[in-house]
Parts: sequence; C-alpha cells; structure tokens
Amino acid sequence: MKVLIVYKSYHHLNTEKVAKAMASTVDAQLCKAEELSQHNIEDYDIVGFGSGIYAWTFHRELVKAIQSLNGGGTKRAFSFCTCGNVTLKYEKMMEQLLTKQGFNVMGHFCCLGFDTFGPYKLIGGLNKGKPNEKDLEKAKEFIKSLIRRI
Ligand SMILES: Cc1cc2nc3c(=O)[nH]c(=O)nc-3n(C[C@H](O)[C@H](O)[C@H](O)COP(=O)(O)O)c2cc1C
Repeated sequence: MKVLIVYKSYHHLNTEKVAKAMASTVDAQLCKAEELSQHNIEDYDIVGFGSGIYAWTFHRELVKAIQSLNGGGTKRAFSFCTCGNVTLKYEKMMEQLLTKQGFNVMGHFCCLGFDTFGPYKLIGGLNKGKPNEKDLEKAKEFIKSLIRRI
C-alpha cells in the first residue's frame, strides 16, 4: 500500500506532528505542499492532504498544490487539519475541492493545535501542548482504519 501525505505547517508545526505520526504508522511518503509537483500521485494508492487552519480555511499553498493536480482518474484521498477551535466543519471545503479534482474522499481527521495567533499570544496561547500524545495516537488510529478499508 503506497501512501503519500502532503502537508503545510508553519505556525507551531502542529500539523507536521500529525503528518509524521500518520506517516510512521503506515510507512507513508511525506511531502510538503510546495514539493507536490516532484511526486506523481498516480504512484500512490491513497493521498492525504493537511494543514493548519488560517482565517477559517486550509493554507493557500496546500489549496494551490491540490488545484495544480490534473485529476486523471479517481484517486483515494483523505484530509486532516489542526486548528485553534474545532467548532467549524473545516473539512467541508476540502472535501468539495478534492472531489472537484476527481478524488474519492475517504475521511477527515482534525485535532486542536497550539495557537498563539494575534491576541492569544498575550494570554500564552490556546491549546498548550496540543497536539499531544493522545491526539497523535488518534491520528495513527485514523489512518490505520482508512487503510483497512481499502
Ligand atoms: C494567521 C493564523 C490564522 C489562524 N486562523 C484560525 C482560524 O480561523 N480558525 C482556527 O480554528 N484556528 C486558526 N488558527 C490557529 C491554527 O489553525 C493552529 O494553531 C494550527 O494548529 C496551526 O498549524 P501549524 O502549526 O501546522 O501551522 C490560526 C493561526 C494563525 C497563525
């Protein structure tokens, strides 16, 4: 089973922790969003796309990388994110984008990430220590259960 995990993470590398935890569990290839053009997604059985959430959406570099894909037959995909606040359904727009690009979206994983954006910095940040070991375990379980469904 060949798995590619594409991600963008810069604020506190929260999403990178999740991407690395997932990759280590299923021996996936990791790829930064800016480097996606160096990979042929046709070589993979499933591709994951993740980033932090910035101003209510996924990082523009990740969106741009997905939009640059030429489709070419239905491929399996999943998405993931870390965010300061999980009350919104961030996965909806990603599902729409991936579906438009010809992907069959199999699921989404989301957890809280340390957030010191704007005024949150003044109070020491939100979600200190997140993602924590428990979150990373959940991320590992998520990808293992996806792979079992293929
Ligand atoms: C510029 C900026 C905007 C953000 N906007 C949101 C937001 O709209 N909703 C939210 O839940 N979190 C928001 N966050 C918090 C990040 O999504 C969270 O810290 C995430 O874990 C960062 O991921 P990263 O460390 O992988 O970059 C924002 C953070 C930054 C720096």
